[in-house]
Amino acid sequence: MTEATKQKPRLVSGDTPTGRLHLGHWVGSVENRVQMQDDYDCYFLIANIQAFTTRMDKPAEVHQNVMELMMDYLAVGIDPKRSTIFLQSEIAAIAELTVFFSMFVPFPRVMRNPTIKDEIRDKGLGENYPFGFLLYPISQVADILAFLSQVVPVGEDQIPHMELTREVARRFNQLYCGVDPHTEDADYQKQGGLFPIVETKLGRTRRLIGTGAPGSDGNLLKMSKSLNNAIFLSDDPDTIKKKVMNMYTDPNRLKATDKGTVENNPLWVFHDTFNPDTAWIEEAKNRYREGAIGDVECKRCLIDVLVAIIEPIRQRRSQFEHDLHYVKKVLQEGTEKANVVAAKTLLLAKEAMKQRYF
Ligand code: TRP
Repeated sequence: MTEATKQKPRLVSGDTPTGRLHLGHWVGSVENRVQMQDDYDCYFLIANIQAFTTRMDKPAEVHQNVMELMMDYLAVGIDPKRSTIFLQSEIAAIAELTVFFSMFVPFPRVMRNPTIKDEIRDKGLGENYPFGFLLYPISQVADILAFLSQVVPVGEDQIPHMELTREVARRFNQLYCGVDPHTEDADYQKQGGLFPIVETKLGRTRRLIGTGAPGSDGNLLKMSKSLNNAIFLSDDPDTIKKKVMNMYTDPNRLKATDKGTVENNPLWVFHDTFNPDTAWIEEAKNRYREGAIGDVECKRCLIDVLVAIIEPIRQRRSQFEHDLHYVKKVLQEGTEKANVVAAKTLLLAKEAMKQRYF
């Protein structure tokens, strides 16, 4: 390892293994992660303990989804030569830091987290969610701080967890490392703090919508596996074609000569997000508004655009599907490397907290 690589700032990000990655993950965060590998020392975690917060009764499914996520990571271009991919449940230091950090967060503060509230509602958890579910944002703080991460590329829904991470890091640094509370976030480490105050790096599209009709409030729903409106990074061209052809568009436009609405129309949201040919988009939108271009033509063009992005990923993935031995080896080696880093941070944290006795 050269001196230059050693000094790269750290980056942590990751996903809960819930199924295959889709285009929403791509524009929200994965695309950034792939690009940032050159400039950051990257650690990508597969949050399998977090998966247990809602699926502890489906261990085989979680196991399968860990492998699916691993294959997606490698297929999109996360490069094990430059980046470390690891499994959350194998890093004991994360669990230990979670317990210490849980003392920093008042219980009502956990309940004020808007993402927690959304998840309770969207996943229909009612009042019977496990205690561990409420603990996961704190475990996420530990995921990030265990690696002294400077930046975290994530989607918009993770913003509340990032804020919590900053709060815990500031508090720790003030209490145990003597950092003045008036210190600017960027200067905490310079002032003797152990933990950097992380920055959030959001994707170019904050929240990608799905291919389906709007929800009951009239707003288009976000792309999500559970809403059955996702285009996956592992979909083959035929599947992409079917999904785009069945995509929700302007419901009032029955034939190609009807005037169409571009706003709030998934067809055009997808073109705007993925089609690099902005001149074509502008011209085609005008024709669409006037009833001078058919949905089918615009959809065909979108299919070509999406296949061009997804097909190379799918092909790389199919190679990994035939070499699970390699996929596991990457995960094992990454986990070993991550363990060394996190264990070192835990020791430093214990030292700062005056809880190192031997
Ligand atoms: N909560 C994230 C998700 O559901 C996954 C995650 C766990 C994560 N730990 C993290 C993301 C640390 C970024 C950094 O997708």
